[in-house]
Amino acid sequence: MTVQVRRKAATGADAASDRDFVRALGRRTVMSSVGSLRHPTEPAARAAFERLCDIVAAQSHVTFIAHEKAERVGFLLLLDELPDEVTLIDQGFIAYMAVEPKWQGTGVGAALLTAAEDEARRRGLPFMALMVTEENEAARRLYEHAGYRTERRLLCKPL
Ligand SMILES: CC(C)(COP(=O)(O)OP(=O)(O)OC[C@H]1O[C@@H](n2cnc3c(N)ncnc32)[C@H](O)[C@@H]1OP(=O)(O)O)[C@@H](O)C(=O)NCCC(=O)NCCS
Repeated sequence: MTVQVRRKAATGADAASDRDFVRALGRRTVMSSVGSLRHPTEPAARAAFERLCDIVAAQSHVTFIAHEKAERVGFLLLLDELPDEVTLIDQGFIAYMAVEPKWQGTGVGAALLTAAEDEARRRGLPFMALMVTEENEAARRLYEHAGYRTERRLLCKPL
């Protein structure tokens, strides 16, 4: 396979198609990020993804789109002006990424991650960070194989 990664189109019909692709694939995959403690309905999780897209759109960010030939097969949302909240050290932050289910496990996620890291390096950002759900084995493996390490933990307890 010959996956290619590009930045989202800035204007015109391609920009609208890219945005629709991101929203549609994100809505379809968002249940992968739901852990074992909280049990939202699928519509609620999809609404949370829409809200995330709005939050990202309101900030400085870069959207990457992965292609296999003419087909869009994945995306990554990179926040590039969100310093680490504890140290205030600059970083890139991956708000969300997803790959079309039929293309998962073929290297698309790794290609998107590499493109985002290259862009962050070009901007002089010294770190890349992200949050991942404990039960999301595929995502955890992707990140661990790419060299990511646990820095903090999000703790949660049902009341
Ligand atoms: C997480 C996700 C983006 C990974 O993308 P992908 O294109 O499937 O990943 P790749 O094919 O590049 O695989 C990268 C590594 O992860 C491993 N991996 C991929 N899918 C896997 C799976 N289902 N189970 C276990 N390992 C998996 C691969 O073996 C590969 O390991 P390697 O580096 O040793 O070769 C994709 O599974 C996805 O879209 N999931 C739904 C949305 C999601 O969970 N997003 C993450 C939010 S934090």
